[in-house]
Amino acid sequence: MTENTSTPFTEDELETARKLFEGPWDFVWASTRIDDLPPMVGHEIAFAGRSNVGKSSLINALTRRNALARTSHTPGRTQQLNFFRQVDHDERLSIVDMPGYGYAAVGKDKVAAWTKLIHDYLRGRANLMRVYVLIDARHGIKEVDGAVLETLDKAAVSYQIVLTKGDALKPSEQQARIEATREAIRRRPAAFPEVLLTSSESGLGVAELRAAIARILFERS
Ligand code: GTP
Ligand code: MG
Repeated sequence: MTENTSTPFTEDELETARKLFEGPWDFVWASTRIDDLPPMVGHEIAFAGRSNVGKSSLINALTRRNALARTSHTPGRTQQLNFFRQVDHDERLSIVDMPGYGYAAVGKDKVAAWTKLIHDYLRGRANLMRVYVLIDARHGIKEVDGAVLETLDKAAVSYQIVLTKGDALKPSEQQARIEATREAIRRRPAAFPEVLLTSSESGLGVAELRAAIARILFERS
């Protein structure tokens, strides 16, 4: 059992999850408009969060691919909904990388357009199994995150909070941040109560996030 995230997984679960994410992941589709989404195949999981929170980096860590999703230190890198699948292997799971909301180093109109796309996708996608809402572990949940949580709660789309950049916190600060975040989402109806702490840089919590995804996928399949 591992306890670092307060969600215990057995060694078997971690191993099964590792295998689920093994194998070639491919980019299959990019959408800039809600009427241009790919056909629904299997289940989807989406990664949402403020610009620069580490969505694309975490997808690369999960899939062990350095540049499956493009990353940058400039906020506003991902500007479309990017869909990834294991095309040659097993298409039951798609990963969706999303543009970020909040501040980005691009024009306001662009951000407004993709923020609308994010909300439309999140509330309207029938095979969206769970959304991972990424929150910078150093900052916690901010007002701008609230709008997305609100959309998900209203649409009854299941989501889990994932803290990113956990390597930037001292071990002594990590548990307090997890607990404060759990407390902040306690009354949110569509929120999964457990919070995961991750780091794409150190690998902290990445195996557990894979296991959390595998667990819900096997429950739904
Ligand atoms: P947008 O596409 O612009 O919304 O950003 P994003 O959320 O996809 O973030 P991205 O993965 O591009 O990472 C943004 C910056 O954060 C990059 O400079 C990354 O190197 C850095 N970063 C991502 N993950 C981590 C992490 O676990 N630890 C640390 N220290 N930095 C990270
Ligand atoms: Mg990105």
